[in-house]
Amino acid sequence: MYTVSNLSNHVFQAIDHHHHHRHCANAKPQITRHSIHLPISRRTEIRAHVTDNIPIVKSKSKLISQEDVINDDKRVIVGTYGRTPVVLTSGKGCKLYDVNGNEYIDLTSGIAVNALGHADPDWVEAIIDQAKTLAHVSNIYYTVPQVKLAERLVATSFADRVFFSNSGTEANEAAIKFSRKFQRSSHPNNSDPPTEFISFTNSFHGRTIGSLALTSKEHYRTPFEPVMPGVTFLKYGDIDAAQDLISSGKIAAVFVEPIQGEGGIYSATKDFLKALRIACDKAGSLLVFDEVQCGLGRTGYLWAHEAYGVTPDIMTLAKPLAGGLPIGATLVTERVNAAINFGDHGSTFAGGPLVCAAAIAVFDKVSNPSFLASVAKKGDHLKQTLKKKLEGNKHVKEIRGFGLIVGIELDVPATPLVDACRESGLLILTAGKGDIVRLVPPLVISQEELDRAVEIIHECLHVLD
Ligand SMILES: Cc1ncc(COP(=O)(O)O)c(C=O)c1O
Repeated sequence: MYTVSNLSNHVFQAIDHHHHHRHCANAKPQITRHSIHLPISRRTEIRAHVTDNIPIVKSKSKLISQEDVINDDKRVIVGTYGRTPVVLTSGKGCKLYDVNGNEYIDLTSGIAVNALGHADPDWVEAIIDQAKTLAHVSNIYYTVPQVKLAERLVATSFADRVFFSNSGTEANEAAIKFSRKFQRSSHPNNSDPPTEFISFTNSFHGRTIGSLALTSKEHYRTPFEPVMPGVTFLKYGDIDAAQDLISSGKIAAVFVEPIQGEGGIYSATKDFLKALRIACDKAGSLLVFDEVQCGLGRTGYLWAHEAYGVTPDIMTLAKPLAGGLPIGATLVTERVNAAINFGDHGSTFAGGPLVCAAAIAVFDKVSNPSFLASVAKKGDHLKQTLKKKLEGNKHVKEIRGFGLIVGIELDVPATPLVDACRESGLLILTAGKGDIVRLVPPLVISQEELDRAVEIIHECLHVLD
């Protein structure tokens, strides 16, 4: 078992790794033509498949280089991402391959998504079988995979019901709406029921207007104000401040990540989550655990909050649930469900047969106790090895996290190290203010792959000098 310690609950502004600004040219750039005179070794043939009965718009097959893709992306994609200059074309297990044929060990998992790695045979088979059978019908009809997935989530958690959506931010939007509706129906004779929310420093809950209002980094919020009103940010771990504000009776719900991912791999303490639970119960506020990043096996527990012995009223899930297909889930108790009526929320795509079949394949592997034990073991091994190899380095301030969500806090920006690792065949992420290396490998990674990854980080550390 892990002991969850209070690991440096410093106040940082949450900065996710997509924070880099891009300079946009005012004038529409000229369309660049692809060069067809590149060396064969630097080409990958991309075929645009068209069916016979669709007018041929993009029927030409073309030879594409990394430079072409990057230039084309810069021309036609809205510039919200500070992308890494790599064009990934395939993956197998914990390895990714780029357009130039380079191989990388993947310690990013598509930002904590590909729990089973890339192209897991059972996951692929589940998707192919379901795609051949029924991919989408909307939520007007009942479908079997949605019910089967919900049954699994309910059977293994505190929750009684599930609402499906398509992403982490949507799972949190549903939690916001359900909290408001719960408070309205709990205070039928009060024209001013609790509608406000508490969130914490370093938190990341998503990019849509409601979830964005709960996301701590001002840089993400201020250009889009007014966001949802009524959110107060308290210091992550500050029990007294949370108790004070919750007892005001104005709080519909408290949103908290048991382990903060984007914010910099900060773990809550048992005392903090317990105090939130008690204060919410006293005041009638709901406690929402955002396990979009830390949930579903990443900590070595199926749900991260199991490590704390505290259960929420609502839990949100997304990233790894369908192993790489888009899904979100908002798990609620019967008490919360009782406040939700027909028509209160919905989604065209959510919980479709295809994505749910993929999620069942993921869930049935990850929820196996021996699989979870292997994640815990590999996580311990990773942290021990990192400590052994890196702790003497003057730039390494702290190595923290648990299971396979691990942070290496540096005293300098992590980007040069990330770049050097990539050049050496290892993909890693940053977190926090950009000074934290975030390691979130596929949960199926082998000890040998982890050892090789640590070796590469160790070999590249000198670039920080
Ligand atoms: C804890 C947490 N909540 C919510 C989100 C938002 O998820 P999505 O990007 O799927 O909307 C993220 C994404 O990083 C997250 O880490």
